[in-house]
Amino acid sequence: MNPVIRPRRLRTTPAMRRLVAETHIHPAQLILPVFVREDIAAPVPITAMPGVVQHTVDSLRRAAAEAAAAGLGGIMLFGIPATRDAIGSAATEADGILNLATRAVVAEVGEALVVQTDLCLDEFTDHGHCGVLDAHGGVDNDATLLRYRDMALAQAEAGSQLLGLSGMMDGQVAAVREALDAAGHTGTAILAYAAKYASAFYGPFREAVDSQLQGDRRTYQQDPANRIEGMREAGLDEAEGADVLMVKPAMSYLDVLADVAATAQVPVWAYQVSGEYAMIEAAAGNGWIDRDRAIRESVTGILRAGAGAVLTYWALELARSAAAEF
Ligand code: PBG
Repeated sequence: MNPVIRPRRLRTTPAMRRLVAETHIHPAQLILPVFVREDIAAPVPITAMPGVVQHTVDSLRRAAAEAAAAGLGGIMLFGIPATRDAIGSAATEADGILNLATRAVVAEVGEALVVQTDLCLDEFTDHGHCGVLDAHGGVDNDATLLRYRDMALAQAEAGSQLLGLSGMMDGQVAAVREALDAAGHTGTAILAYAAKYASAFYGPFREAVDSQLQGDRRTYQQDPANRIEGMREAGLDEAEGADVLMVKPAMSYLDVLADVAATAQVPVWAYQVSGEYAMIEAAAGNGWIDRDRAIRESVTGILRAGAGAVLTYWALELARSAAAEF
């Protein structure tokens, strides 16, 4: 018997497929993560992330201007200091690389992009952990909150509009919110990396920020085995006052993303991390997959799962080809 219901009718032509597509990639939903390094004279390529560099402040300004011109939603800054210590002092200095670069980017793009900063100590500590250590070498949650509060003030004063709390310390959103409000920064928003998993897919990022870490972050980032815990972390961060929630990484955590997106009452974003980028670039570089299609499919999948916006190292490239057919 011939079928009466024929879903294939809606797949007949590119125009028909575009018209019925449930998910589109729009530049305003894309955020470009960028790295800025102190004491370099020219941009330094990151081997494990072909096409991505550690910027000088000058080259970062140009990249930010390009991002604004392409209509991106935002830019997320990570700083790589020339010197590190146990408490990550450079993170809270007004002329520390991240704060200095934030000022430069804000001066360049004004309000054309939402300028965002990573609020975490790992790039700044000589041991590479996201917090300060206790006498036994463990990460001291509550002592770290004091550092995050100071870091938040330095970043807000530098002009960051959205602070990306990526350290996975308990109570970090409430602590930072209180510090910001007490200092009059009531308009500075908080992006909580709410469900952040201890992932192998951060591998290339270690090179990108010249990470000093030995070991792993499993005592503070989440166990990849846990889905319910992702909801719990997201719920806590929303209750503590997070303005936006993030799930990270993206590709291996789309169930968590869908869960959080279905229940949160604030925007929910996802971070397509360095290893997700590197995998596709490496496979495409070997001729094993179609690079453009793989990139679009991966980001479409993240949006389809429920992300309102995506941090991706392909943000600029995707924004420029936003009109292209999937
Ligand atoms: C912590 C931070 C990391 C990433 C973003 N923020 C590293 C980590 O948690 O180990 C990883 C991003 C990526 O892999 O692209 N400052």
